[in-house]
This record gives sequence, structure tokens and C-alpha cells, in this order.
Amino acid sequence: MSYNLLRGKRGIIFGALDENSIAWKTALKVREEGGSFTLTNAPIAMRMGKINELAAQCDAQVIPADATVEQELKDLFARSIEILGGKLDFVLHSIGMSPNVRKGKSYGDLNYEWFLKTLDISGVSFHKVLQTAEKTDAMNEWGSIVALSYIAAQRTYPDYSDMAQAKAVLESIARSYGYRFGKTKKVRVNTISQSPTKTTAGTGISGFDAFYDYANMLSPLGNASAEDCANYIVVMFSDLTRMVTMQNLMHDGGFSTTGISEDLIERLAR
Ligand SMILES: NC(=O)c1ccc[n+]([C@@H]2O[C@H](COP(=O)([O-])OP(=O)(O)OC[C@H]3O[C@@H](n4cnc5c(N)ncnc54)[C@H](O)[C@@H]3O)[C@@H](O)[C@H]2O)c1
Repeated sequence: MSYNLLRGKRGIIFGALDENSIAWKTALKVREEGGSFTLTNAPIAMRMGKINELAAQCDAQVIPADATVEQELKDLFARSIEILGGKLDFVLHSIGMSPNVRKGKSYGDLNYEWFLKTLDISGVSFHKVLQTAEKTDAMNEWGSIVALSYIAAQRTYPDYSDMAQAKAVLESIARSYGYRFGKTKKVRVNTISQSPTKTTAGTGISGFDAFYDYANMLSPLGNASAEDCANYIVVMFSDLTRMVTMQNLMHDGGFSTTGISEDLIERLAR
């Protein structure tokens, strides 16, 4: 059912790789709610992923851009405004990658060049997106920019490795840039801290199935799905959340404020 929450709004959606991606589900929801957008991903993901299928479904154009390369971001914003016929109202940063995690390096044996890459791709790229949006005057007043985070920014999950630092950077950038963008342009900036979700990035973390099940058993509502996350992002892009900014918003079925659940006690008592 559509509420037309995003009718007439324009934006950019980063990070749709395949139909499991949170960005993929978000693109479909945003379209359903009347928004128009361009889709973007790193050039290498274009070859591996299925973004063109999604673009056809959403009547959207695809513009490749590596989110760590400022010139590519500049071109992306300029072309998006041209294609969509005006300045932007929303941006989704749905990007994460750690070469250390991908290559199975343990936290006590990190490759520091890769660590910096993790921080750049998964954290600093958010600053680059925000700075490009501001410098190119790409956003309309009361626009909304959202990035996706994970609770490993606050608590330790050993296999999440250097991605934990990247998420801490990401959330901190949302606060610092949210202040700035609020003052200069009345643009709001938030992160959404999402439950474990079965996507390429999610299942790339070793032990993912165990912490997916653990979170599901601990959370009174169970894990939030990618579709649930897409719905929340739509609300954050809509005019119904105009005064929400500089927040890390927990979207986790109650996980972050639950100590223990009957389900887990039962399981551990067995
Ligand atoms: N899946 C989970 O359990 C989970 C939980 C909380 C938060 N998140 C976050 O959600 C976001 C989306 O991840 P997902 O789970 O949908 O997985 P996904 O693998 O579908 O999406 C990650 C995306 O990042 C893109 N990317 C990587 N390097 C890039 C670069 N240099 N430039 C541009 N794009 C680049 C990938 O191509 C991919 O599309 C990530 O920030 C992730 O950390 C995921």
C-alpha cells in the first residue's frame, strides 16, 4: 500500500548490489511512495551485481561512482540533478566493505593499508558524500540524508573486526555534519542502526548465522528485515520526520535495550 510519502521528491540511492541489498529494497519502496532517483554503485559492483535489473523496475538511471573518489561523486551529483530535473531531497548511503574481513584477517593481525581502506569506503565516504552535496549545493532545504550503521559501533562483536571502527566513524560524521548541514541548509543527517540482515555484506562476516539467530532470539520483535529497514528509510526521507537529525536511530526489534530473553534462557538451559 502506498501513502505517496515521497511524491515529487528526488534523490540518489547508493549501494544496491542484488535483490537482497537493503538499498535494493529501499529503491523499490521509494519508487512505490512516488520518489524518483538515480542509482549508483562502485564500477566493479556494476559488473558483479544486477543493478540494471533494478533500474528497469524503478525507471531509474544508473551512474557508476566509487564513493571514495571525490570527482566521481561530484559528477554523480551534477548528473543526477540534470537527469531528475532539480535539486535533491534525499540520499541513501548504503555502503560497507572491509578488505580485512573479506580476506579473513584476524583483528590481531590487521593489514593497515586495508584498515584505512575499510575506514575510507565504509566511514569517510559518508563525509565525502555530504561535503560534495554541500559544496555543489545539491540539496533542497529540509532534505534528508541517511547512512546505515550497525551496533558494533558501540559494542564488541569480534568477527566484525575493523568494520566496528568504520561504523563509529560513520555515526560520528552524521552528528558533526548534521550540525553543519542543519545550520547552513536545514538538511538533516542520520544513521540507522539495522539488525543483522542476510545480504552480501552481512553474510560476509564469519559467524553471521550465529549472531543473526542470537539477535533474533534476544529481540522482543525479532530481527528487523531489509524490507522493514526500507520502510523506515522512507519515513526518514519523508516530511514526517523534519526535526530528526544527528541521531543514530536503532532499528533492531528492541535488541539494543534487551538484556536477556526467555527464548535465550530456554536455549542455554538445554
Ligand atoms: N547486512 C547486515 O547485517 C547489516 C546490518 C547493519 C548495517 N548494514 C549496513 O547496510 C549497508 C548496506 O549493506 P547490505 O547489507 O545491503 O549489503 P550489500 O553488500 O548488498 O551492500 C553493500 C554495498 O556497498 C557497495 N560498495 C562497496 N564499496 C563501494 C565503493 N567504494 N563505492 C560505492 N559503493 C561501494 C557494494 O557494491 C554494495 O552494493 C552497509 O553500510 C552495511 O554495513 C548491514
